[in-house]
Amino acid sequence: MTNTTGFDPHFFPGVSSLNPDATIGSPSVKSPPLEALYPEINNYRIISAERYTSPSFMKREWQGVWSKSWTCAGRVSDLSVAGSWFKYDLGHESIIVARGPDNAIRAFYNSCQHRGRQLVTDDFGRAPSFVCRFHSWVYGLDGINRRVTDREYFKPEALCGDLNLRSVRCESWGGFVFINPDPDAEPLRDFLDAMPAMLEAYAIDDMHIVKDVVIAMDCNWKVAAEAFLEPYHVHITHPALLPAVDEVYNQYDFYRNGHARLITPLGVPSPRERDRDSINPGLAYMLREAGVDPESFTGNALDVRAAIAAAKRKTDNVFGLDYSAFSDAQLTDDWNPSIFPNMALNAFPEAVQVMRFLPHPTDPAKSYFHVWILVPTTKPGVRPPANFGVEPEVDVTGAVRPQRLYTQQDKAGVGEVLQQDIDNMAAVQRGLASAGMVNGLRLSEQEQRIQQFHAQIDRCLARANA
Ligand SMILES: [Fe+2]
Repeated sequence: MTNTTGFDPHFFPGVSSLNPDATIGSPSVKSPPLEALYPEINNYRIISAERYTSPSFMKREWQGVWSKSWTCAGRVSDLSVAGSWFKYDLGHESIIVARGPDNAIRAFYNSCQHRGRQLVTDDFGRAPSFVCRFHSWVYGLDGINRRVTDREYFKPEALCGDLNLRSVRCESWGGFVFINPDPDAEPLRDFLDAMPAMLEAYAIDDMHIVKDVVIAMDCNWKVAAEAFLEPYHVHITHPALLPAVDEVYNQYDFYRNGHARLITPLGVPSPRERDRDSINPGLAYMLREAGVDPESFTGNALDVRAAIAAAKRKTDNVFGLDYSAFSDAQLTDDWNPSIFPNMALNAFPEAVQVMRFLPHPTDPAKSYFHVWILVPTTKPGVRPPANFGVEPEVDVTGAVRPQRLYTQQDKAGVGEVLQQDIDNMAAVQRGLASAGMVNGLRLSEQEQRIQQFHAQIDRCLARANA
């Protein structure tokens, strides 16, 4: 292979590890190459634009992906007491997730068994039971029918069979509630493969929501999801990050069931930068945030990561966190695990950005992009790192659960970097719908996670057809 870029000729995306000495069981251990899990991956270097635009593909996705997959429905912390519930809208479906008096969390389709009216239309609530607002049928928090109003006016044949809410499988991990419409699906923990072990150190279960935003997007859900599966776009979409982000020498890892991980080193200038020596403003900012004074810092740019790790390892560190469960790389780098089909995390010990990409009920050219910022309990008065876009007036102690905000793609309110990603998306969708894309999309090896994503979607579609 000819190296035309001046990059390290020994590095190749998907093959190289940032930490070749990582021992088995270490959170930074490298997965085998993509070909080992997906021998068919050669078919995914060029993919068809129809996958993003065609209503028939959207229908097949419904049957093969959404109806058969575990997807994240919400946070366990939004079901803190018996009677609390939330609504999860997935495409044209709507699901209620509720905590019963027995403390169990259950999920049901949001349809009264009388005439189908949705039982809840708000996002969250708390109630002793679900009362249909159409004809006052009542269901318990366990989904069992408790009342058929004016039962005497129904003939027995109208009430034969099951009058309870139709249940949906529901399991939890990491403080996230997942649902799966497929009764035969493998248990959530098995489906998640390496992800729970990989993320264990972050103790996401104990984190609380400080930001909750749903953005209405003019693009297919995959266009939005894929923006966070590759680092290739960073140099042009987010040029301001280059002084403190190495978006080239990244580690790509692939797991069963379509899951993957990208590790992007932060606190080091991009190899695209001319000056990889001086402490530029981006690096100075990162040092300061970790409690290191950049003015008195004597190292050069390539010493910054170690200095940040050392500062965080001090018992009196700025955030008041215990970093002992984390590797040094986790103290600076962006760990970006993606959970198939539609969830991705930018995980840092001080905050985790959770992204979900939700299909539109009817239109393949629209979707919803959901962002949560989760934070651990830190020293009083400490704010999450500024790049998470949590406004200064927001309470971050966990005492107040922030409201869910609904925003538009031009003013998403999720910080500058995410806005730059979002600004590409509608234009990508428009371009994909053009006859100009008849030859398909071409995916580089920096976009291997997108190749895997589509290979997994096709496995799901094939399974549904089998
Ligand atoms: Fe981006």
